[in-house]
This record gives sequence, C-alpha cells and structure tokens, in this order.
Amino acid sequence: MNDAAREGIPDAPPPAPAAYLSGLFSLEGRVAVVTGGSSGIGRAIAGALARSGASVVVVARRETELAATTAELAAHGCRAAWVSADLGTRDGVRTAAEDAAAAFGEPDILVNAAGINLRPPMDDLGEDVWDATMAVNLDAPFLLGQRFAPGMAGRGYGRLIHIASQQAFRAFVTSGAYGVSKAGLVALARSQAEAWSSRGVTANTLVPGVVLTPLNARISADPARAEALAARTMTGRNGLADDFAGAAVFLAGPSAGYVTGQAIFVDGGLSVH
Ligand SMILES: NC(=O)c1ccc[n+]([C@@H]2O[C@H](COP(=O)([O-])OP(=O)(O)OC[C@H]3O[C@@H](n4cnc5c(N)ncnc54)[C@H](OP(=O)(O)O)[C@@H]3O)[C@@H](O)[C@H]2O)c1
Repeated sequence: MNDAAREGIPDAPPPAPAAYLSGLFSLEGRVAVVTGGSSGIGRAIAGALARSGASVVVVARRETELAATTAELAAHGCRAAWVSADLGTRDGVRTAAEDAAAAFGEPDILVNAAGINLRPPMDDLGEDVWDATMAVNLDAPFLLGQRFAPGMAGRGYGRLIHIASQQAFRAFVTSGAYGVSKAGLVALARSQAEAWSSRGVTANTLVPGVVLTPLNARISADPARAEALAARTMTGRNGLADDFAGAAVFLAGPSAGYVTGQAIFVDGGLSVH
C-alpha cells in the first residue's frame, strides 16, 4: 500500500469470493442442451457449462466425437450425456429434443451452436444449399426453442443462447445463405426475448469473429490468410473456441437475467476495427 492509501477497518468478516461468484454464475442444478456440443465452439461451451455445475446434453451427428466429449467431461467429474441426431431435418430435431430431455429432464439452458457453413458464390447458390443451411442454422434453433422455452417460462428460468456470425450484420466473402440464416438467428433471439423475458427466459446471441475450428479448416490450412484475418482484429489474433466459455457461462447463469435480446460480440474487436 502506498502512503496515499489508507486501510479501512473491516466491520464484517472477509468476503468469500467463491460464494459470491457462485451466486452470480453457478449453474448447479441446471440442465443444459448444447447442439453442436461435440466440436469447436459448442464443445467449449458444453465444457464450460458442465464445469460450472450444469448437467449437459450434447447433440450432434457423429457418435465418436459425442462420446469423446462426454468422456472428457466425465473425467472432470461432470454430468454429461450425448444424443446423436441430424438437426437438418425437422423429424430429426423433434427426436433429438425428446431424447435430450430424457437424459436429465427438461433443460433450463439451450445453446444452439450446431451450424454449417456452405458458401458457394451467389450465382451458384442453389435451393439445396439454401434449404440445408436454413434447416440446421435457423429452423433447428427455432424448433428447439418452441419445444423447450414454454416449459422454461412455466418454471420461471430459462436461457436461450444462439451462435450467430459477423455475416448476420454485414456481407463479405460470399455470405450467401449462411449470412441470411445467421441474421435470422439474431432476429429469432429478439423475438424469443420479447416473448419470454418477462417470465424469466432470456434469449441472446454470441457473435464470433474468425475462430479456428473444424468449420473453417480452410483458414487454418492457409497460414498467410489466417494471419491476415488475425491482423483485422484489435487483439491481433484469431479466436479460439475457449474464448466463448466465460461469455456462455455468464449468459446461462443467474446474473444475466437482465441481459436479453442482445447480440454480444466475442470477436477480438474484429467488428469494430
Ligand atoms: N468458427 C468460426 O469462425 C465461426 C464464426 C462464426 C460463427 N460460427 C458458428 O459457430 C457455431 C459452431 O461452429 P464451429 O466453428 O464450432 O464449427 P464445428 O467445429 O464444425 O462444429 C459444428 C458442430 O455442429 C454439428 N452439426 C453440423 N451439422 C449438424 C447436423 N445436421 N445435425 C446435428 N449437428 C450438426 C457438428 O457435429 P456433427 O458434424 O457430428 O453433426 C459440430 O458439433 C456454428 O453455428 C457456426 O456457424 C463459427
């Protein structure tokens, strides 16, 4: 302490930061469903929610990746289960929702991280790519919200978290159907927030910049391009999946009850540079 500082005489026992932080952020007793929870950003978020106390169900197609994810969480002493499902069909989404709810009960937290990134030039963008993109990136989050959020509202606590994209806000490098699906997701969060926030269910999107995950392996495979993209951020690096852990835990937790309808950029400053 320097001379200018004077130590106050405490009139209460020293604070217990762990208990205080737990009141803000603990997810103990909560159930979370994380689509795309077997890879990249979804996997990092699933791990963060589970290690914050939630029982987590990860949903994706590939069983080996799903099993590896839950095994890793179990090794940390977490409760985790997986459901293999194709979220590219409405029947697949419906079945996935029932299977996910069967694992630990109806969820309190839904994270929509499953996504596909098909970006042909607009001239070549056919109905097949449009339909496939909308099905996974927008229809599945909508249907899962319809399935789970009314129950959350009835119980008075719910958190809907979507993973959007820079392309939701501006077009670049052939945004095509992908950008449209992500813009829809941001609007979906607002509609959900309008519908359910007064009953304890918030809805928000996290907006990544460039994150080095399997989704954009093409960038990782091209160091010069990866470096050029990193230079467009303020932090000087591209994103990592773990950059989303804290933001997701915050949005999922009790202290974020007054944060709703928002798009929160976790992008190293890319969007404002
Ligand atoms: N990485 C980035 O730079 C970036 C930037 C902006 C936004 N995002 C968004 O962030 C989210 C996560 O992306 P990521 O980078 O983490 O990609 P990723 O590592 O490729 O993960 C995508 C996940 O979605 C699942 N998935 C894809 N299609 C599915 C389907 N039909 N049914 C069920 N699950 C399906 C995948 O599992 P299976 O293949 O086993 O099904 C995987 O778990 C996506 O919504 C993406 O659009 C990423």
